[in-house]
Amino acid sequence: MNLHQRKTATLLTLTSAASLFGAEPADTNYDEARVPNYSLPALLPNDSPTAAPDLRAYWETTRRAEILSLLEENVYGKTPTAAVTLKTEVLEGPTDVFDGLGRRRQIRLTISPKDHPDRSLKIEVLLYSPKSPGKKAPAFLGLNFSGNQCISLDPAIRINPASGKARGFHQDRWQVEWLLKRGYALVTSYCGDIDPDNYRHDFTDGPHPLFYENGQSRPGAKEWGTIGAWAWGLSRIRESLQDDPFIDAKRMAVIGHSRLGKCALWTGAQDKNFKMVVSNNSGAGGAALYRRCFGERIHHMLKPVGYWFCRHHASYAHREEELPTDQHMLLAAIAPRALYVASATKDQWADPRGEFLALVQAAPIYSLYGLKGLPDSKLPPPNHPVSGARVGYHLREGKHAVTAFDWGHYLDFADRQLAP
Ligand code: GCU
Repeated sequence: MNLHQRKTATLLTLTSAASLFGAEPADTNYDEARVPNYSLPALLPNDSPTAAPDLRAYWETTRRAEILSLLEENVYGKTPTAAVTLKTEVLEGPTDVFDGLGRRRQIRLTISPKDHPDRSLKIEVLLYSPKSPGKKAPAFLGLNFSGNQCISLDPAIRINPASGKARGFHQDRWQVEWLLKRGYALVTSYCGDIDPDNYRHDFTDGPHPLFYENGQSRPGAKEWGTIGAWAWGLSRIRESLQDDPFIDAKRMAVIGHSRLGKCALWTGAQDKNFKMVVSNNSGAGGAALYRRCFGERIHHMLKPVGYWFCRHHASYAHREEELPTDQHMLLAAIAPRALYVASATKDQWADPRGEFLALVQAAPIYSLYGLKGLPDSKLPPPNHPVSGARVGYHLREGKHAVTAFDWGHYLDFADRQLAP
């Protein structure tokens, strides 16, 4: 697709998602009494070792990898592991911003497979870091929906020509100055810079073609979709910060809202170098348990956003109980690293209770490390965050969004989890 087609397709997606998801499908279940009886696939099968140290070793050497493979094959698709080279080019900065509160940098990251140096993908990365003399800051890394210019009114942010959205359009979702005041850096890129988010997706202009071999023109049925591509991009951005003068790449959280929350979880599950993961209202294909069949389900996603997943995932439409995985496995793959899941009361489409229960169900893996899970397996009341040693959860009053309330709790949690 050329730039114009890409832009038109993105706008079409926004419209089609709004009409498809705005008027929710008639068969959507919001009745707890109609949640089917289900049993979740075991995190640790019956024949797992019984002694605690052996069980933990078994998790680390064998079972975690098995679970990741199952998630690849059945949900997100397999991501190529071919080596790449990363080239960074400073487009702007470091420039003092917000009355000296921090610095801004804008970087172009070019990613090329080592075996195909003639192929490349370019991503613009926007970085804000606090001015903490002599110290590298912990950072939140997350993709944005609508172009880097949308995260703040800062007039110097380069406008992304593919997005068409106004400066500051999503500033509430990012709270840049507050993060800087709290001592955190923020790193973000437009998701469409990595892989375009539209239902006409043909896998020709994101990272997929970098790895096509022998005339391949689209991913195989069990190969990566768009969430896999975004996750791959986030890991490359993290790698590019390895020797950053202002950011401590060993203390990074990956964060995402909604579809990008699904992506943050898949990124954190695969990439152990993220010390913390935040899922904000990620819903179906994110933190919510598929088997509850509450709110959004696989068959609802097929037409508008099936490309987020591998093609094989579609075969579980209307037969969630046959999936060899459920989303507690995705969360467990993040253990023992820090994980915060957040829901909103008016976001029943994303099944808040299902998001909470998946986190409860991941507890046995945290306990292999002697880490306490959530204090209770009952959904807490709205606006009452709960946490264990490395897990946190809240159900915010309100709709599908990222708010200052959410950020306040992510920052408090990060203070505990990302301390040097
Ligand atoms: C739609 C979709 C969700 C997704 C959300 C978003 O509502 O059904 O799965 O999380 O869009 O990303 O905004």
